[in-house]
Amino acid sequence: MKAKIVSTASYLPEKVLSNADLEKLVDTTDEWITSRTGMKERRLAADDEFTSNMGTKAAKLAMERAGLESKDVDLILVATLTPDYMFPSTACLIQRELKAENAAAMDFQAACSGYIYGLSIAKGYIQAGMYKNIILIAAEKLSAIVDYEDRGTSILFGDGASACVISSEGSGLEIDAVTLGADGNLAEILIMPAGGVRNPASKETVENRDHYIKMEGREVFKHAVRRMEAASQKCVEISGVDEIHWLVPHQANIRIIEVLAKRFKIPMEKVFLTIHKYGNTSASSVGIALDELLNEKKIEKGENILLPAFGAGLTWGAALLTKE
Ligand code: COA
Repeated sequence: MKAKIVSTASYLPEKVLSNADLEKLVDTTDEWITSRTGMKERRLAADDEFTSNMGTKAAKLAMERAGLESKDVDLILVATLTPDYMFPSTACLIQRELKAENAAAMDFQAACSGYIYGLSIAKGYIQAGMYKNIILIAAEKLSAIVDYEDRGTSILFGDGASACVISSEGSGLEIDAVTLGADGNLAEILIMPAGGVRNPASKETVENRDHYIKMEGREVFKHAVRRMEAASQKCVEISGVDEIHWLVPHQANIRIIEVLAKRFKIPMEKVFLTIHKYGNTSASSVGIALDELLNEKKIEKGENILLPAFGAGLTWGAALLTKE
């Protein structure tokens, strides 16, 4: 049995945060941000717009595009590191909005690798014959946990959501192979230290700004390149394909993406980028880029798309999709 992505969708909030806006918040310049990251703008959710709202919008559009009715959804998977609540899950909030009363619903967390982990979970359920129609949603309101006094992180992140319908029937992109990995030894190099049970919210955690993203940028950069390359290599080997037609990577830094493209000999015109418009939207990033690729370019039958990702945890992974 094959697991196929039969539709994709994304949702980006309207408000734009430009490099010029960031110059007013922290000690940085448009020139520095552009040359070091490739980013020009990112989107910010409204004050009354949350991860579940953005995820619902993307999911509804993906269902409409797939012609999937609410009653036929078997499972709702949500990848996010910025859930509306610690509990209940954002997946349950989205299930309520979708009126998908026959669906099971759960969140999972693999940071920026969330979309790839989600493809793997969905592929496993479908190939085991347990479910027919799964909605994978990746949604983030990162602006709620970004420290707009820290120039090392505030320039990088934006808000947004992506979704796809993964089914055993219909046609689209077959999920050929997925490889995943993790290294918890490096958990602390990219972390939000407080708000969980280890450091529950207190006056001290708020004063220390511990409810925001903390990152050792240079270390993360180094591991991102190494791990995405290895995961991609393994994925290509497992799937047995001899050509990659499109690279749709996690949109964390243009320099990381360029190294990856070079290693796999993929010309930059075959690398799909949204980084200049949306920055790093964590779990949503690969899904947003995949959706825009499918809307903007014609993918021919038999063409392959490689999706590598990397994130906090550390986590990483890659997926190889083939157009049917
Ligand atoms: N504007 C201007 N200068 C800045 C700056 C900013 N926004 N942020 C850092 N700098 C400064 C540093 O203070 C440092 O100054 P110093 O040399 O006087 O100490 C200098 O620029 C270089 O800092 P460094 O951290 O080495 O820069 P970098 O080239 O590694 O770029 C990142 C920083 C964050 C853009 C880069 O490390 C990165 O993208 N890392 C991976 C991040 C990532 O992918 N995270 C998500 C994983 S999913």
